[in-house]
Amino acid sequence: MTNAYNPHGVTWMESSAAGCLEQETVEWLCRQAGYPKTAGGLFVSGGSIANLTALAAARHAMLAETEYSSGVVYLSEQAHFSVIKALRIMGLTGEQIHMIPCDDSLRMDAFQLEQAILQDEKAGKKPFMVVATAGTTNTGCIDPLSQIAGICSSHGLWFHVDGAYGAFALVSEKYRHLPEAVAQADSLVWDAHKWLFQTYACSTVLFRDRKYLAAFYSSDPEYLWDAAAENAEINYREWGIELTRPARSLKLWLTLQTLGTDQISDMVPHGIDLTQQTESMVRNMPEWEIVTPAQLAIVNFRYAPQGISPEQQDELNTAISQRMMEDGFACVLTTRLKGRTVLRICSIHLETTEEDIRYTIQRMDKYTRILKEELVPNFSVTINA
Ligand SMILES: Cc1ncc(COP(=O)(O)O)c(C=O)c1O
Repeated sequence: MTNAYNPHGVTWMESSAAGCLEQETVEWLCRQAGYPKTAGGLFVSGGSIANLTALAAARHAMLAETEYSSGVVYLSEQAHFSVIKALRIMGLTGEQIHMIPCDDSLRMDAFQLEQAILQDEKAGKKPFMVVATAGTTNTGCIDPLSQIAGICSSHGLWFHVDGAYGAFALVSEKYRHLPEAVAQADSLVWDAHKWLFQTYACSTVLFRDRKYLAAFYSSDPEYLWDAAAENAEINYREWGIELTRPARSLKLWLTLQTLGTDQISDMVPHGIDLTQQTESMVRNMPEWEIVTPAQLAIVNFRYAPQGISPEQQDELNTAISQRMMEDGFACVLTTRLKGRTVLRICSIHLETTEEDIRYTIQRMDKYTRILKEELVPNFSVTINA
């Protein structure tokens, strides 16, 4: 519909229906996040642009332009690379991007965060924002949001949560509690094209107080004076980076109207259940190890037989992934965690079944036997069938 009717989602005058749906849908998302009435936001193309949109407005809210060069942002080593990309686009140097180590579960270490802030404050720098992640891309874990919110509040910092992947839990009755303290975030990124089952491109930026978006993005070009917003109307061009933009909210709005929130709430656990099943299947296979447990539908594991070096194990796991890709049944790619190559399964597609997962594991097992002989010919062990 958006392609066929092609509404210009820029000003209320040109597309009030699109504006109205966007406002309603954003309000619904803000309610899921537990935000107050001051909240607001807009639809953008994806999580990367959403992070950029939020972080640039946040800096404007927190620092005078003369302070930009001494401003420091904190994020964990597991933050999505789009955050660093956004900060670079904003002109921050490497020294202004303070990477915080993670704890053993690969969540941002809140103690180290506070130490880093204290150290930077002492050095005369201007800490102004912490970027936490609700649902990291590698492992699906959620940073300790409550603790981070407390640290931000006591040091007067902006608290941004990248929930591009994990904020979906907010619509699930069963998992709503997981991103606790998200309501305290000053800004939140939430991708509808990830776990709200939308086609690309559909993401949102939500602010606890929408005035900070307009304060940064609003402009007043004379050729748009006739389309100025009146009363409660919103011209979304004044809240974000884009001028011409499609009516991205329509599809999510229609999904909500068609399915209703109860059904959406019931759909979310499917992916989580599948990775829990994956985890227990892998745990039953000798010589395989779970590197990070099933969290928000992501699980990481590794084939790690005794008797070969960790580097050979890395090579073997990379080869298993390549063989799975050639096979074409399931996409099991690698990532690096704690210095080692691991296999990662993320299973949020609604049509993926437990049987699909079982076949995937069986195929992996089959290729592992073959590859082990090829890569480590003199090494023979029994692999679980
Ligand atoms: C946590 C997180 N943030 C941001 C992004 C970027 O989102 P997009 O691909 O929609 O730009 C991703 C994508 O995987 C992500 O997992």
